[in-house]
Amino acid sequence: MLIRRCAVLFVEPREDLDVDWAALFAGQGAIGATIQWVALAPHLGEEAIVDAAEVQALGAISLTLWQERATCESQFGAAVIARLLKQGLLLSDAPESAALRERDEVLRSQHWRPLSAALHMFSRWTDMRVDKGMQFPSFEELVDNYGTPPGPTVDRRNDGLSIALPQPERARLDDTLFQRYTNRNFDHSAVVPLATASRLLQRAFGSQGEKEMAPDAYVLKKLAPSAGGLHPTEVYVLAQRIEGIAPGLYHYQPVRHALEPLAEMAPSETEELALRMVADQDWFQPAPMLVVLVSRVERNFWKYRNHAKAYRALLLDAGHLSQTFYLLATEAGMPAFVTAAVNEIDIERALGLDPLKDMVIAVCGCGPASGAQNTVELHYEP
Ligand SMILES: Cc1cc2nc3c(=O)[nH]c(=O)nc-3n(C[C@H](O)[C@H](O)[C@H](O)COP(=O)(O)O)c2cc1C
Repeated sequence: MLIRRCAVLFVEPREDLDVDWAALFAGQGAIGATIQWVALAPHLGEEAIVDAAEVQALGAISLTLWQERATCESQFGAAVIARLLKQGLLLSDAPESAALRERDEVLRSQHWRPLSAALHMFSRWTDMRVDKGMQFPSFEELVDNYGTPPGPTVDRRNDGLSIALPQPERARLDDTLFQRYTNRNFDHSAVVPLATASRLLQRAFGSQGEKEMAPDAYVLKKLAPSAGGLHPTEVYVLAQRIEGIAPGLYHYQPVRHALEPLAEMAPSETEELALRMVADQDWFQPAPMLVVLVSRVERNFWKYRNHAKAYRALLLDAGHLSQTFYLLATEAGMPAFVTAAVNEIDIERALGLDPLKDMVIAVCGCGPASGAQNTVELHYEP
């Protein structure tokens, strides 16, 4: 049997503090620390605990070349090799290793930068619920807990040499820019007109033209910038109340400007999914139209292979899209939101996505405001 190491692996010496309350009350040394090796292998998607002998084997077995299992066993011990194979940190050509080997192959095929793959796979949530008691902790509470925050600005020259700039003239974009805010009080029954939803999707995420840069190498022109012109961000729509569109999940096809139905749902099901997607932030759940931004990593990593900046570029791309979405929604008289506090794993399941290929980044949404101020919002006050 041949074996090799998984493609990407980081091993963290993690420390857990144990408080012995009885000893504490008895006035004795009460805090103990346990340190163990935590293996972070993105193709597994979950952490594994390893011991020092296993760390040593992992540090010595090639991730590229296949080696005889017996040779590795004689070097590191049969038990160590067996356990690492079982955990999927080592992979073999045997049928029982096929499923984990396939996950490792998927990871290899995408050209991830190792650190980025680990960061992505181990920063995803499932079934996370933001604690309602922590809902927008007031600044008073934050100051009580953490002291005053670092100031909102920094001065780099305080010697009278800064150059005072003229006040900007009013211009066309101003109305929209000044009206934009993050809405947290949506009208629970309002419907987004189809024409509005359509304009929003087309202008924020749609293609305004295609160009063949080299044989069979196409780029799209969109109204937001994208690293390398690759536009890797896919858009999925959770329609709760969009005129003429049955409640459910859709993929937005940016060239055909069409919604591809993925799952039709009852209104109660979209409500449940919306809430789960935004980690229980119930102030966002009633938005009639939610949009999930998902990076198709192979599109970006095709050019930016194993690239130190590629992961950042994907996040930045999504940020540009969300601001364009905000502005278009605002222009249409509907406030919007974006949140990064999302249950990526639940969203992947709902959309049938593989996190090694498709990176859920954020959820946006929009809809008419209720007019209430039950949850805090920041409006521009001239
Ligand atoms: C990347 C990102 C993540 C955000 N995540 C959340 C969030 O989880 N929950 C929330 O209520 N607002 C979220 N917001 C909205 C911000 O809280 C909001 O932009 C900020 O308070 C300023 O208010 P404004 O957008 O009304 O100007 C997020 C905004 C950004 C850009």
